[in-house]
Amino acid sequence: MSKPFYVTTPIYYVNDRPHIGHTYTTVLADVVARFHRMRGEEVYFLTGTDEHGQKVEKAAAARGITPKALADEVVANYTDLWQRMGMTHFRLIRTTDQDHKDQVQRLFKRLLDKGDIYKATYKGLYSVSDEAYVTELQAKELQAQGLAHQLVELEEETYFFRLSAYQDRLLAYFEAHPGFVQPDFRFNEVKRFVEGGLQDLSISRTSISWGIPVPGDEKHVIYVWFDALLNYLSACPANCWPPDLQLVGKDILRFHAVYWPAFLMSAGMFLPETILAHGWWLMGDDKMSKSKGNVVRPDTLLRFGNDALRFFFMREMQVGHDRGFSYEGFMDRLNADLANGLGNLASRTLSMIQRYRGGQVPMPSVLDEQDQEMATRLLAVFPEYLEKARANDFHAALDALWSYLRALDGYIVKAEPWKLAKDPANDPKLDAVLANLYRALRATALLVAPVMPGLAQSLWESLGHSDQVAARTFHGFALDGPAIGPIGESKPLFQRIDKEKEMSELEAAAAPVETKPTLDVPEIRETVDAESFFKVDLRVGRILEAERVPKSDKLIKMKVDLGIEQRTIVGGIGKAYEPDQLLNRLVVVVANLAPRKLMGIESHGMLLAASDNASKPYLVAPPDDAQPGFLVK
Ligand code: MSP
Repeated sequence: MSKPFYVTTPIYYVNDRPHIGHTYTTVLADVVARFHRMRGEEVYFLTGTDEHGQKVEKAAAARGITPKALADEVVANYTDLWQRMGMTHFRLIRTTDQDHKDQVQRLFKRLLDKGDIYKATYKGLYSVSDEAYVTELQAKELQAQGLAHQLVELEEETYFFRLSAYQDRLLAYFEAHPGFVQPDFRFNEVKRFVEGGLQDLSISRTSISWGIPVPGDEKHVIYVWFDALLNYLSACPANCWPPDLQLVGKDILRFHAVYWPAFLMSAGMFLPETILAHGWWLMGDDKMSKSKGNVVRPDTLLRFGNDALRFFFMREMQVGHDRGFSYEGFMDRLNADLANGLGNLASRTLSMIQRYRGGQVPMPSVLDEQDQEMATRLLAVFPEYLEKARANDFHAALDALWSYLRALDGYIVKAEPWKLAKDPANDPKLDAVLANLYRALRATALLVAPVMPGLAQSLWESLGHSDQVAARTFHGFALDGPAIGPIGESKPLFQRIDKEKEMSELEAAAAPVETKPTLDVPEIRETVDAESFFKVDLRVGRILEAERVPKSDKLIKMKVDLGIEQRTIVGGIGKAYEPDQLLNRLVVVVANLAPRKLMGIESHGMLLAASDNASKPYLVAPPDDAQPGFLVK
């Protein structure tokens, strides 16, 4: 029996309801799964939920319910949404499922016996907000951002996975498998990370109880990523391994492209064929977050039907890149491409076939140059679409198809079938035009079926078919074959959206319940006496030069004028500011901070910035007429 095409989504945390980010990944996986089925392959499509860990434990305690009860509630939201989105996954695995728990314990034991998992004492820094151990480099970055208060010293017993032993093997594997991570620029980031050196990975905690116990040492629970990543293995039937395509967001690529392969290498198993990292849906330029109150929920958009949302996702997002979401952009896209574009073309074509040929699709006898050109373009766009879709680039595939549909509009305008129909002498030309349009729509229904299953089926039936378009295969489809019979009843494919009306309703519906952003800050720190405070020398400075520190997306190196001297200061503000935006800015500098090295550069001083844990740092700005060197007191 041949191996099914195995495609996965990440498993979603159960501390929040799904938003369009989660929905996007799962739609992409579903489109890929449907596409491969129509290539004649058997497909195994897996999604799931990630249910263990401290956050779930705490959230459940706050509500006075068990973590499992909380997970059950959230999982129901996912199951319901996936059903409404038309997902065709084979299984939704939950990390609380017994077969998964068994699998995780089995593999843990195996790697322990092999020596790749060992118990040791961790002594070092720990980030409370990230629930993670922090390396020296990360600690320095946090300190540079003024977030040192998130760190605590910790000494605890933990199980480590010997990740450091896999650096060379991973790099060799990357070298031999140039398509392992896509897109390429993300693969390069992964390679740089591994080249930078790998530290052993802590994979157990004693401070958490909501998790899978370490076999034989039950005061430890297995920490979330070792647990979570193995879901792909737990849910895989015998003939499925390895996954062909694993979809992940860019934020969790490192776990999938470094830790996961190392676990598999250690277990002596095949690695996935491709890990595809997609970008994020943003609101404007901002991350969607509950605290900002700008989270878009799929329920709000589902009023236009799941085909619309699925199409929008695939058409708009270039896999790999981020994309800003707006309600307006959403409606414009649907009106332009579905109500006008395809919808119009279908209704015009069907009504002409009905009116001029009594519903019978003609077979053309002669083709003039224009007819020939359109027929040839169809023969080209069909395989082009399939090739792009095979490379998971549905954005480009749909783009190519829609430019063909636009060309058909031009073809109709030129041919003027309504004039041709007035004189029987023009019958051959009218036949050619109608047949070309019919064939184009028939091919379109087939091609877009994975993306818009419902709309494709309606179109398919309007064209006179009574079978399921999704049950067809692309291979061997006769693009110029005769119609199987008269056209069917014409159904509108997509109702044009009244943008103004919907905009106001949508915005109202989208108004978040969580409107008031909650501040994510620690308690006020312990009291210091005035004398201690005044030891800190705060000065107004002006930034004279600013450039990014190579290999760091956070650090910016600046030259700052303090009136009486100039300083080199490295600040962790690179995610919030571009170097250009910093030039000539007045800032407040901690001038008597001991110099220290950040990524090899000596930084002498620190800039004051305001932020909470959820926001970017905002540089504190003295008024415009303050002078560099002024004392801030
Ligand atoms: N539980 C982990 C994954 C474990 S996989 C073994 C997790 N869960 S998550 O619920 O936080 O995120 C799941 C996925 O949603 C990630 O791939 C993430 O990139 C994606 N998205 C979250 N917000 C997103 C957007 N705004 N846009 C697109 N995808 C985003 O991480």
